[in-house]
Amino acid sequence: MLDIYKLGDDVLREPCARVAKFDNALAMLTDAMFETMIEADGVGLAAPQVGISQRFFVVDTRREGERIAFFNPEIIETSDDNVPYEEGCLSIPGLYHDVMRPSRVTVQAQDINGKSFTLQASGLLARVIQHENDHLDGKLFIDRLDDKEKEKMTALWQKKQKKDQKKRKNK
Ligand code: NI
Repeated sequence: MLDIYKLGDDVLREPCARVAKFDNALAMLTDAMFETMIEADGVGLAAPQVGISQRFFVVDTRREGERIAFFNPEIIETSDDNVPYEEGCLSIPGLYHDVMRPSRVTVQAQDINGKSFTLQASGLLARVIQHENDHLDGKLFIDRLDDKEKEKMTALWQKKQKKDQKKRKNK
């Protein structure tokens, strides 16, 4: 299990560097990310969330064929619509909010061996790809909300942090 970094940690705000070496260490790290994500009951996990500032993420929507790792991904096409969907994030646990995004995307990426592939996604998979891809640019789902809603979420997070701290102290 890898440690998951949380809102407030600098690594979540840095733009990530491209993956250059597709070696055994990367394969092992990717496996560990899949395990960590599933253990945490998430559907996606990006490298910066485990403290690694590199452009890759893993996805498992629990649907057949939708357990995928994306290296150096680029979203090359999005649909013209903009639809709401309630998002959460393993780096901001306990907070959820509707976020507007296109419902379909085409993504180009490399697989674990560095081989290029193109994927068209819709539904939950399209949603998770966009959310995780944002992480690689240091962006979180709360940044996609309007200022007022973002402030509300940030305040909620700070309140929750204080509560958790108190709980830890009392143990
Ligand atoms: Ni996230």
